[in-house]
Amino acid sequence: MRTNQPQTIYLEEYRVPQYLVEHVDLRFELFEDGARVHNTLTIQRNPAADGNPGPLELDGDSLRLESVALDGEQLPASRYEDEGSKLRVKDVPARFELTVVTWIEPQNNTRLEGLYKSSGMFCTQCEAEGFRCITYYPDRPDVMARFRTRVEADKAAYPVLLSNGNPVAQGELDDGRHFVTWEDPFPKPSYLFALVAGDLVEKKDRFTTCSGREIDLRMYVEPRNVHKCDFAMDALKRSMRWDEDVYGREYDLDIFMIVAVDDFNMGAMENKGLNIFNSSCVLASQDTATDATFQRIEAIVAHEYFHNWSGNRVTCRDWFQLSLKEGFTVFRDAQFSADMGSPTVKRIEDATLLRTAQFAEDAGPMAHPVRPASYMEISNFYTLTIYEKGAEVVRMIHNLLGETLFRKGSDLYFERHDGQAVTTDDFVRAMEDASGRDLSQFRLWYQQAGTPVLTVQDDYDQAEGIYRLTIRQAVPDTPGQTDKQPQHIPFALGLLGSEGQPLPLRLQSESPEAPQERVLELTRAEHCFEFHGLTERPVPSLLRGFSAPVRVHYPWTREQLLFLMSHDPDGFNRWDAGQRLAVDVIQSLLGAADDAEIEPRLVEAYRALLQDPSLDQALVAKMLQLPSEAYLIELSDSADPAAIHRSRDRVLAYLAENLRDDLMACYRRQTGTVDYELTPEAIAQRSLKSTALGWLLHIGDEPALELAKAQYAEADNMTDRLGALRALVNSDFQQARTEALASFYQRYSEDPQVVELWFSVQAGSDRAGQLPQVQQLLAHPAFDWKNPNKVRSVVGAFAGQNLAAFHNPDGSGYEFLAEQVCRLDDSNPQIASRLVAPLTRWKKFAPNYSTQMRTALERVRDKPALSRDVYEVVHKSLA
Ligand code: PHE
Ligand code: ZN
Repeated sequence: MRTNQPQTIYLEEYRVPQYLVEHVDLRFELFEDGARVHNTLTIQRNPAADGNPGPLELDGDSLRLESVALDGEQLPASRYEDEGSKLRVKDVPARFELTVVTWIEPQNNTRLEGLYKSSGMFCTQCEAEGFRCITYYPDRPDVMARFRTRVEADKAAYPVLLSNGNPVAQGELDDGRHFVTWEDPFPKPSYLFALVAGDLVEKKDRFTTCSGREIDLRMYVEPRNVHKCDFAMDALKRSMRWDEDVYGREYDLDIFMIVAVDDFNMGAMENKGLNIFNSSCVLASQDTATDATFQRIEAIVAHEYFHNWSGNRVTCRDWFQLSLKEGFTVFRDAQFSADMGSPTVKRIEDATLLRTAQFAEDAGPMAHPVRPASYMEISNFYTLTIYEKGAEVVRMIHNLLGETLFRKGSDLYFERHDGQAVTTDDFVRAMEDASGRDLSQFRLWYQQAGTPVLTVQDDYDQAEGIYRLTIRQAVPDTPGQTDKQPQHIPFALGLLGSEGQPLPLRLQSESPEAPQERVLELTRAEHCFEFHGLTERPVPSLLRGFSAPVRVHYPWTREQLLFLMSHDPDGFNRWDAGQRLAVDVIQSLLGAADDAEIEPRLVEAYRALLQDPSLDQALVAKMLQLPSEAYLIELSDSADPAAIHRSRDRVLAYLAENLRDDLMACYRRQTGTVDYELTPEAIAQRSLKSTALGWLLHIGDEPALELAKAQYAEADNMTDRLGALRALVNSDFQQARTEALASFYQRYSEDPQVVELWFSVQAGSDRAGQLPQVQQLLAHPAFDWKNPNKVRSVVGAFAGQNLAAFHNPDGSGYEFLAEQVCRLDDSNPQIASRLVAPLTRWKKFAPNYSTQMRTALERVRDKPALSRDVYEVVHKSLA
């Protein structure tokens, strides 16, 4: 907490550490009123550091220092300076042992960084800079050490004591206390340290690795959650096998543990051998988790597990390199999810997130490169750009190199850098060295912020049979970056004939057996490609599979989009054509009269999707989702959220009115008595059912109301039950809505994860989530300001999903958000800083909105003792 301006940290100023830690010996004495941490470090001067090393500097945050000893001798206060955030020890020898004892108060730690308590258990979160809240330490990822950790606590209250690595000793102590000692043989940065102490149930399983080693798998959860572990445990085993098969990566310790905690700022954390998960990202049962939750859990379990190699064995040199581990690991988990389910659907979901939220970030005040050049608070840089755009960058390398060379590159990377803390540049170099390709221009993807814009023009020369495609690229200015250079962009392309047949892509002098799809490599501001031997004007299928994270402008006609929607062999582009058409139709209604005509061909296109059971139903389910309000806002320059909401609603109502019978027939087709399965087909069935219900209830269809009530009451899984609830909540059937909400709460009030769903369905709905109702949710007994999931499910859902209500033209939504951000800033700055994001996009909105958003931001800016986290975001967005 501070009032003056926080410091900016620059990549350019990176220096190797002056001192290295070889070994860390920790002893934790855990009590109800605090914890004493004994920390003995074996330290030596870094031979790679130049110049006079000066005093030893250790980082600290909110610590009470009790004593400092050097080589076993207590140091007098004159030998060290305790500045709070730094402990400086003067006149240290070249090699020595330093023992620091600190006292901390986990029970009062509401920031959830360092050691804290969650539902009675002790747990830790150290990434990025939480270890310094536990003890004084050179808290930077390029200091890697071997850790031994002894945990002592009351045995009855905390029978389970965990840390990284393998248990090597345990025993009884006086006063009913006990201890367990853990040793992690792999040197690691402090951000991967973890400790857990609690009264937890253990679920056990085993995994035999490719080399025949037996690994002990364990999940630790509160007793009430034992029945919610199976899915994550299976997902873990699938991940372990997949990483062996696809990347040749074997697990390295003898034991792998997962712990579920209720209070957690993020999704999960890859601590070495001891992954800690937000309960909502690991616990699931058929009755309590939706299909989307199951898939998210599978992806996150895989993500954290994959970090064992991409992140832990090879880690980041500094936090500017965060995408080294996150971008690569998201790419790996996306490949895994694609292999486990429908690759097209996975790609659609990832592209949707990127185009809706990452493009917005990249065009906003916090825009930063995948490898940022500066930051004030690193917690603010766990962003969609670092994660999702970072993953797209790795995917493009994969596209450019192909499967085999990419694998050669990743093998080389892991082998060359095992046990090291490295940079994104080292990653790219390994890819270059293994493939022989030059990626120097490609590196701009790491350095330049902003989403490249491709403008495509075409022209067909009938007499010559030549089709010309001109592609121009421009990278927009972003804060602190202008005049950018063209980037290296893989652009996947197909051409279709009038019957929908794929045409050969014959460049100039090539033989007639040219491929039917090509990946063009764009490297200049402008390229012109000529395709020969074409007897008709083709319809281009551009950027297939979303082969690069860019915006594409091309003057598509509605005919072309309708044609691509039903003919493109690339599933992703079929979906994309449908989205573009829907966007065009919705946008054309903005500002139009209330009775303006709506494109009738959109109805026919959707009818074709609904009526043809031979189509890939997983794709159909996705194609029936209209573009979100958030995406429509992202696409506009001076957004009017109320107008966007109205237009989108009108199109939805028009479609539903005209497709009533088809929707009903589609609904009935999906209902059979089948066992609950998580296959793409079954997921698609459930999605289609709830979409049909939602559309019909949107127009007040009475028969659909009965179906929704029945689906709600009879569902044997949460996807169907929540689907029905959501359809009811978003309808005008007031009484049915109220009854369903009450029944749902009563049924699940003991289950925090389901209560979070209940909160977010309401806060995210324009019918049930107007501001006064949201205020009531905050006053609900199940709401808890200290629990990030609850805050996200009410305040986050309101500002992030319920855009019509949040952007109420009277400004009340903005004022509300500002107030909650200020309230959270003192207790949990990380959460406050994430929550404020919707206000920071103020420049995107029409003047009556943007002025009020700005005012709300200024109110946050003027809060006394603003945290560094919120300071950075608010000041950058007001700049
Ligand atoms: N490193 C975690 C992941 O991506 C995310 C995380 C960051 C969790 C910071 C907690 C704190 O898997
Ligand atoms: Zn990660």
